[in-house]
Amino acid sequence: MPRGQEPLLQRPGSQNSNDRIEEEDALLTGERTNKAQEGHQHVRSRWREIGLFTWALLATVVVIILGVLYQHKQSEQPSNGDDGSVIPKGKRNLIFMVSDGMGPTSLALTREWRQYTEQLPYDDTLILDDHLIGQSRTRSSSSLVTDSAAGATAFSCGSKSYNGAISVLPDHSPCGSVMEAAKRMGYTTGLVVTTRITDATPAVFASHVRRREMEDEIALQMVGATHPLGRMVDLMFGGGRCHFLPNGTDGSCRADDRDVVKEAAGEGWNYISSREEFDNMGTSAKLPLMGLFAGGDVPYEIDRRSQDEIYPSLEETARSALEILSAETKDSEQGFFVMIEGSRIDHAGHANDPAAQVHEVLAYDRTMAAVLDFIKDSSVPTLMVSTSDHETGGLAAARQLHPEYPDYLWFPGVLANASHSAAYTAHEWHEYLRAKHDAGISELGHTETVAAKAFLMSLTRKSLGIEDATDDEMNSLMNKPDIAAYVFADMISSRAQTGWSTHGHSGADVNIYTSDPKAAKALAGNHENTDIGAFLTNYLELDAELQAVTKELQQHMSSLHPEEIEAFLGSIPDLTERLDGQDHLDHYHGDHKRYAACGSCTV
Ligand SMILES: *[C@@H]1O[C@H](CO)[C@@H](O)[C@H](O)[C@H]1NC(C)=O
Ligand SMILES: *[C@@H]1O[C@H](CO)[C@@H](O)[C@H](O)[C@H]1NC(C)=O
Ligand SMILES: [Zn+2]
Repeated sequence: MPRGQEPLLQRPGSQNSNDRIEEEDALLTGERTNKAQEGHQHVRSRWREIGLFTWALLATVVVIILGVLYQHKQSEQPSNGDDGSVIPKGKRNLIFMVSDGMGPTSLALTREWRQYTEQLPYDDTLILDDHLIGQSRTRSSSSLVTDSAAGATAFSCGSKSYNGAISVLPDHSPCGSVMEAAKRMGYTTGLVVTTRITDATPAVFASHVRRREMEDEIALQMVGATHPLGRMVDLMFGGGRCHFLPNGTDGSCRADDRDVVKEAAGEGWNYISSREEFDNMGTSAKLPLMGLFAGGDVPYEIDRRSQDEIYPSLEETARSALEILSAETKDSEQGFFVMIEGSRIDHAGHANDPAAQVHEVLAYDRTMAAVLDFIKDSSVPTLMVSTSDHETGGLAAARQLHPEYPDYLWFPGVLANASHSAAYTAHEWHEYLRAKHDAGISELGHTETVAAKAFLMSLTRKSLGIEDATDDEMNSLMNKPDIAAYVFADMISSRAQTGWSTHGHSGADVNIYTSDPKAAKALAGNHENTDIGAFLTNYLELDAELQAVTKELQQHMSSLHPEEIEAFLGSIPDLTERLDGQDHLDHYHGDHKRYAACGSCTV
């Protein structure tokens, strides 16, 4: 109870209290007191006194309550940053969402496809659309077209770096990440993705290497086994289990025999690897917690839908992560910082597969809705900021198919008819060819060719909703099975009249979204991607700690011998090397069945 309240409550007991109250009342009402009046007016004045006293007491109580409310409000009053952002004081949470490879056209395509499939009016928009505040310029230090590693390093360190850099600077030395600084300041931290947890975007928050393809080393750093500062993440949900299993064991893709799951247990990690364990962990989940639900990437949403009993969706893992992080920080001084990534919007862009992409973007939209739900119910001030690292594919919502004057349209119905990704469809085709090969048929004779074409017709109908495959398309699929995924994707794209200008990334500006335009005011308008990193650090008030972490990492590096530096960060890449991590392009990432290129199949 505030100190000022006591004397006021004691007042009625004191001798001359009525007079004082009358005086105070007079001050409040502007009327004069009348002490001289006695005698026959006594009873009346007595009633008057009681009335005044009651009035004054009520007024005082109201003043006190208002005062207390005001004081309470003052102490919660957020501070205005130099940049105009309204940042809460005290405990807070930050949810950073990344839509990897999603450009503005991905939004138009998904919005219109959803309106078509759900028969919604033209002004029925995505959740994302309601939260747009700005745009980010994405170039890296080495190219006008960034990759995800340099793009994410701009978020984690707030610095531009070269394509392929995992939280290292252009001089190849490590830079502290906002997650490392947050962890050291008492925040609980998390990473939730649909790609490999060792892929570039999650990797930059909790590891430092000079080349993004060093995923075996990244896995060890992320669990804390080889990170110079120890374990920096408390929760990881995603794919990429193969980098945590020792070589020679089932499902491993490690080059060495280190058992990272075991080493992680040594660092205190709890580990789950299946949908069943995910469903059963309930609220008893204990941090640190690592959930790796796929050997490689979690399948595209368009394919995952029919394997829901194997893989949880991004919306589910994100919801669960927020619940766990919020329960874990319920009684702690600091909140949490989590990065949630719609990782495979990018892969659908690389594959030039518009059907896979719209499902990925919509899954991201649902995840954002889940995040906003969480924020609405959270008693701790929580901010969501979302952006992309770059655009992928150079997507266009139109396509000129002939030299004649182009049509002003595209056909969302074609995407709506597809039930699987082009990658999944190519995988089915490869399985068919492999079965033939395994049966000793390496050269398809007339009968087998007819049968193979019939299989392809049925496959494209079932998987892509295409009934009218052309001879050219069939011949490409028969003669060049290696590029079948691209052929299938183009069968969809050309029929939908959607255009792509590259199988890689583009230099387009990307969107910035937030749950609170006031808190994220600094990100309104057009920004450099490094401003987003600076904002994350600023929102959590970690500027000094981020510098301290960078200094410590750099000192650690200076204390090492050259060969130890290479073991830690990897060798310095030369400028002609490709470091954009595009080796994954032709692969189907679902691991429910194994894919191996059918190199020896001759058809
Ligand atoms: C497995 O890793 C060890 C080193 O950790 C290496 O000596 C061995 O050759 C590897 N085996 C295979 C099959 O790659
Ligand atoms: C989608 O599939 C239906 C049923 O097979 C078909 O009638 C329709 O023409 C298809 N739409 C497009 C745009 O291909
Ligand atoms: Zn990419």
